[in-house]
Amino acid sequence: MRKIKMRLLQIREIAKDTIEMKLEDDYITKVANPGQFISIALPNHTLPRPISIADIDRENGEITLLFKIMGKGTDTLAGFIPGTEVDCFGPNGNGFPLDSGQVDKVLLIGGGIGVPPLYYLGKRLEEQGIEVKSILGFQSGKYVFYEKKFESLGETIIVTDDGSYGMKGFVTDAVNIIPGFDAYYACGPTGMLRALTEQMKNKTGYISLEERMGCTVGACAACVIPTATEGSYKKICHDGPVFAAEEVML
Ligand code: FES
Repeated sequence: MRKIKMRLLQIREIAKDTIEMKLEDDYITKVANPGQFISIALPNHTLPRPISIADIDRENGEITLLFKIMGKGTDTLAGFIPGTEVDCFGPNGNGFPLDSGQVDKVLLIGGGIGVPPLYYLGKRLEEQGIEVKSILGFQSGKYVFYEKKFESLGETIIVTDDGSYGMKGFVTDAVNIIPGFDAYYACGPTGMLRALTEQMKNKTGYISLEERMGCTVGACAACVIPTATEGSYKKICHDGPVFAAEEVML
């Protein structure tokens, strides 16, 4: 993890309240793995904002971050203009396992703002010759993003809570439509991950937790989560945010 400044190249709203930022960087693009996140320090805010990495273009030294406007901090961030030097530190946390020897076919399952890290993961898995299919869930059609990008990786099913776009329901309703995968990788709200891990008990799975964090670097204990071993806890920001599905109690 390193403290750096990244120059904002482009910022745009790609779906309702969903902001995509492209930044110039020559360090994180070289070392970050899918599932890791960046902490952005904001002027006049004590706590940094953890933002997951949606994509990396190593050749051009460009990193893509995606976030949803959910309060003052992310609202401030959405107001940044191209050319701004953004104070960041990272990459933080662990990442999804990328061991190509273990799996041939994977299923990516994302909910809302949990979708972005799965795109970079999917790209890296596909580069290794792994077959990638995806199920992406959103509240409604106006929140849908990256459909075409995921389709470029493989079969993609879009699910919305209200049925205003794609299939009506939750990601858990769509899981049985795509059989025959060796492992699943999921990121989204805790309720979604709880239902999913219960439903997929017999499958190998990895989940990335989207909890509200404080310091983002393991120093404050705001993000502790109980593990399957009684009395044992892990820090999402430091030990995660990716865990084996059976490792933590949601
Ligand atoms: Fe401070 Fe995880 S956010 S320890």
